[in-house]
Amino acid sequence: MENNFDVIVIGSGPGGYVCAIRSAQLGLKTACVEMDNTLGGVCLNRGCIPSKSLLNSSELYHKAQIEFNSLGIEVKNIKLNLLKMMDNKKKTVQDLTKGIEFLFKKNKVIHLKGKGSIAAKDIVTVTSNSKKKTSYKTKNIVIATGSEPTSLPGINIDEKIIVSSTGALSFQEVPKELIVIGGGYIGLELSSVWKRLGSKVTVIEFLDHIIPGMDKDISREFLKILGKQGITFKLNSKVTGINIIKNKAVIDFTNNKTAKRERIETDKVLVAVGRKPNISKNISELGIKLDSKNKIDVNSKFETSIKNIYAIGDIINKGPMLAHKAEDEGIATAEIIAGQAGHVNYDVIPAVIYTSPEVATVGKTEEQLEKEGIKYKIGKFPFLANSRAKVNNKTEGFVKIIADEKTDKVLGVSIISDVAGTLIAELALAMEFGASSEDIARTCHAHPTHSEAVKEAALAIDKRPIHF
Ligand code: NAI
Repeated sequence: MENNFDVIVIGSGPGGYVCAIRSAQLGLKTACVEMDNTLGGVCLNRGCIPSKSLLNSSELYHKAQIEFNSLGIEVKNIKLNLLKMMDNKKKTVQDLTKGIEFLFKKNKVIHLKGKGSIAAKDIVTVTSNSKKKTSYKTKNIVIATGSEPTSLPGINIDEKIIVSSTGALSFQEVPKELIVIGGGYIGLELSSVWKRLGSKVTVIEFLDHIIPGMDKDISREFLKILGKQGITFKLNSKVTGINIIKNKAVIDFTNNKTAKRERIETDKVLVAVGRKPNISKNISELGIKLDSKNKIDVNSKFETSIKNIYAIGDIINKGPMLAHKAEDEGIATAEIIAGQAGHVNYDVIPAVIYTSPEVATVGKTEEQLEKEGIKYKIGKFPFLANSRAKVNNKTEGFVKIIADEKTDKVLGVSIISDVAGTLIAELALAMEFGASSEDIARTCHAHPTHSEAVKEAALAIDKRPIHF
């Protein structure tokens, strides 16, 4: 038995590596087990970071083609070099994963390379690539093994023609046609990337609206905007099968309302119908309690049903499957293990879709408040009336603030804007401090910035916006 650790974290995604660093900062002897060759988990290696790299590059390419000329920037022979774009993505990912290695060294977190499994409540066994097993004794274990893409019954993701987000982040050439199953986060971000790079993109979505769970107003407006960008949507449509015929995917789907059956053929199909927690055989065999959705059931201290075994991130039955939620849980868990009062406020977890424009939300939607019987008032302000958006020729979208009818406390915010992902931080902070819409309305916002639309939406709650 090697080393006596205070904490061993299994998994080095945003939940795991942050938990390991915070544990070490608090003076706990910490190790983090990772079976991939690089640290950072799905987010850094196959998710958030590579997708944002391609979103950025493809947007610049699209702007150079469509917008530059009208701004008086004349560029000739704009050409796509997809392999170079992919190389740039790879380099960014490499730099960031090396960054975590550096942070581990700086904070004295031991990186254990291999597949971690829990042999007993105080023993983690690591199996290296060469199948060598080493066991480590530890006082606490944190499971942070994340999630993986789900598929549909009978559909086999081969990462060549039928791909998950992993495959769709690494196409070697631009598909002529791309069918995307699922109009959620992944489906819409990757639809945007490949549409900008030249694919004909169709999204097939089961529900009658895109991005389920987000404010209906936002969902409707966003659908209109993406439609104008040339993405085709087949809503209310259930995919029933995909067959590969002569190197093409043939997709069968049925309209939920009319029962009309359709079939389309395509070069590539991206299945983006959600993710499932990575519950290994080891976790099931240990008898750690799971909920009905096969996620680890944790209490408010992130403790599983086995003492001194904690779990955080996509694998637990709390909050959305988002990297920043996992990070906060990682910090809270390290602090709880160190005897402090770690806490995550699940009412204030922002969510962002990094399309153009971006979509960002925090707190409750109108639909949720109606269900809960909470009376509310709304303030909305369009970017069409915001000077900075006008200067940038990007006037799509709006800010929508929902506040409690009686107390004026901000309960939820949704934004569609070029910089929605950045703007939402102000609202998350305001909500953490229990701000009223009046507090936001009376806060001085710099001119000319997009953030003035936030102030105006707050003013609009009291029917006194200045510019609309
Ligand atoms: P999602 O849950 O966001 O969307 C899946 C969509 O597929 C839903 O709209 C659902 O109605 C639809 N669907 C399900 N079955 C279907 C069928 N048979 N036919 C047609 N449509 C069907 O899942 P997604 O996009 O795969 O993302 C997975 C997770 O990753 C999410 O929880 C998200 O939070 C996270 N993520 C977050 C990102 C961000 O923060 N920007 C980016 C990418 C992923």
